[in-house]
Amino acid sequence: MDIALLQQTARRMVAPGRGVLAADESHPTIGKRFAALGIEASEENRRVYRQMFFQSPGIEEFISGVILFDETIRQCDDQGTAFAQLLASKDIIAGIKVDRGAKPLAGHPGETVTEGLDGLRDRLTEYFQLGARFAKWRAVISIGDGMPSRASVETDAHALARYAALCQEASIVPIVEPEVLMDGNHDIDTCESVTTDVLQRTFSHLAAQGVMLDGIVLKPSMVIHGTGAAAATIDEVAERTLRCLQRTVPAAVPGIAFLSGGQSDEDATAHLDAMNRRGPHPWNLTFSYGRALQAHAMQTWGGAPEAIETGSQAFLKRARCNSAATRGAWESSMEQATA
Ligand code: 13P
Repeated sequence: MDIALLQQTARRMVAPGRGVLAADESHPTIGKRFAALGIEASEENRRVYRQMFFQSPGIEEFISGVILFDETIRQCDDQGTAFAQLLASKDIIAGIKVDRGAKPLAGHPGETVTEGLDGLRDRLTEYFQLGARFAKWRAVISIGDGMPSRASVETDAHALARYAALCQEASIVPIVEPEVLMDGNHDIDTCESVTTDVLQRTFSHLAAQGVMLDGIVLKPSMVIHGTGAAAATIDEVAERTLRCLQRTVPAAVPGIAFLSGGQSDEDATAHLDAMNRRGPHPWNLTFSYGRALQAHAMQTWGGAPEAIETGSQAFLKRARCNSAATRGAWESSMEQATA
């Protein structure tokens, strides 16, 4: 375990002005998003699509790291350079999704536990050789009738902590991602109490496994209303999320990189911006968005070779807006500006 490398990687990932692009969709997930736009889900289309992001001119100004999928970390750009090397040449850190997905939790209908611990030590060794310096593991917590159960919160927190300890042993920074889903009719109060509990239990398990907190990045969902409930204001989401984090996340954690979780592109940016306007905080607050960085670019590209450049511009616009939000310097007028 290279402690200095872990600390340095974690700090670089969350340095103000930059954030993480989550481009680690599993085959079924990206397949669904492609299908909705009539794009064929071939390996080559996935490669070309992701290359569009990695080769976007000036991406390194806004993006500190990219989360790759197993297929992607083994792929090369059109010139034959491995994606991980291409990113490293731009001072962007390659990361890798290592969980094997959320599977039904026995005895708890509607709930899941994230799998992937078996054989993880060997996979991490290979990923380090392929250039990965951070990893991601996503636990999924649902809010609903009787949910989340104790069993769901505890098993996911335990697995996250075992994953994090294995990553650090391999000198790979773990992104610890406990996502409380927005799906449901619950109000923001319920989301706040569930998220507070989930983060408390997660940090308790991290401590029990001896995880070094200055060598992780936390990737939480924001405290927000359910998709079927009345919308909370931008300020309310920002204030509730900050209160929840202040109550649960030790100051040793260098940074918190939020997921977007189905929020609109502009909401995800506005929430991050509103939180950073209320700083300084003990940790840097940045983004690790998937959909909120990619959705518009994917639509613009639509699988057409001649639309690579406009797709790339659509991505850079979102990346620029989110970069400004890490400094609390985003203005809604930036949304009108052409890419
Ligand atoms: P979203 O920003 O689309 O929620 O994706 C982030 C992610 O990595 C989910 O695991």
